[in-house]
Amino acid sequence: MTLPLFEKYPALARRLPWISLANYPTPVQKLENLGKAIGYENIWIKRDDKSSDVYGGNKVRKLEFMLADARKKGCPWVITYGGIGTNHGLATTIHAGRLDMKTALILIRQPLTGHVQENLLLDARYGAEIHYAPNMAIGALQTAGVYLKRGNVYFIPPGGSSTLGSIGYVNAALELKQQVDAGLLPEPGYIFCALGSKGTMAGLLLGCRLAGLKTKVMGVRVAAGWVTRDAHIWKLANHMAGLLRKYDKSVPDLKFTLSDVHVIDEFFGSEYGAVTPEGEQALSLMERTEGIALELTYTAKTVAAMLDYIKKRPEPGSAPLLYWHTYNGVDFSRELAGNHDYTRLPAAVQWCFHEKLAQCLQEE
Ligand SMILES: Cc1ncc(COP(=O)(O)O)c(C=O)c1O
Repeated sequence: MTLPLFEKYPALARRLPWISLANYPTPVQKLENLGKAIGYENIWIKRDDKSSDVYGGNKVRKLEFMLADARKKGCPWVITYGGIGTNHGLATTIHAGRLDMKTALILIRQPLTGHVQENLLLDARYGAEIHYAPNMAIGALQTAGVYLKRGNVYFIPPGGSSTLGSIGYVNAALELKQQVDAGLLPEPGYIFCALGSKGTMAGLLLGCRLAGLKTKVMGVRVAAGWVTRDAHIWKLANHMAGLLRKYDKSVPDLKFTLSDVHVIDEFFGSEYGAVTPEGEQALSLMERTEGIALELTYTAKTVAAMLDYIKKRPEPGSAPLLYWHTYNGVDFSRELAGNHDYTRLPAAVQWCFHEKLAQCLQEE
């Protein structure tokens, strides 16, 4: 199997580390029922929830590059960071495990939900070494401890949005272009995606430009402002463009600036991971009309922003809108039902289970 990125720029296939961990292309489909329910019948979805039978969502596209790099460098361990319910940490643990690598997770506080509890249980089930960092200083000490103890450790930044990892979403945009060319969907006027550690949005920005799509990429901010600054987004796109050009001079010399970045700010809520009423409504509307599961930290806020955009859209007409679904679609409920003994988790995170929020804990 090869990637649209490597088909377009074959020299990259020889130079960039990459290993196949996912199922491509991810399907696209029209959201007919949602469209009817809200009176805007040109909404589409890119189903990255189906990107893997093991653990899907957006992270695997980035991990294919970073874990290949880790393997090339002979690292038996990777380290990464996130909130206590991080999807990225779980995705890394699971996919690294498939390549016989172990994962150390440095986790910080976020609001508690059932989803957070489930992800912690799954982190442990898939063998992550979990460290809870109540503040940055402790996180730094724990990181140093992991490096001292494990030696050759590969660093994966929060959300997996390194320059190399985010190239996974450059490729994803080229994949979308092939689907547009094949007549599977119209060229989107807008893509709506969650904006967390920025790699998804920055990769799509660059990938759409390389693909010749006129699509505007709208990032829905779901992380704190200091994490998601507009400048970080276009700079990341420029770094990726530079890396690709370094390895293949036929990649055009593209430069992004502030005017290329479109961020929707109003759906974040009070803090990272906070549940918002608009997110809850979007989640239940999507579930009821399309039977597609969202979660409340990223994807529900993204759909809420798209629905709001449709309501208030500046121009008349009905441009095709594409919601990029970045949440894992593999069901872990069976696995969780047999693995909810949280006392096996490190003592430092057991406070997360003092309330029974996750379904599997309520069944105890
Ligand atoms: C489900 C989901 N969607 C979107 C994102 C955000 O993507 P990015 O970190 O590339 O901005 C994340 C990040 O963890 C995620 O877990």
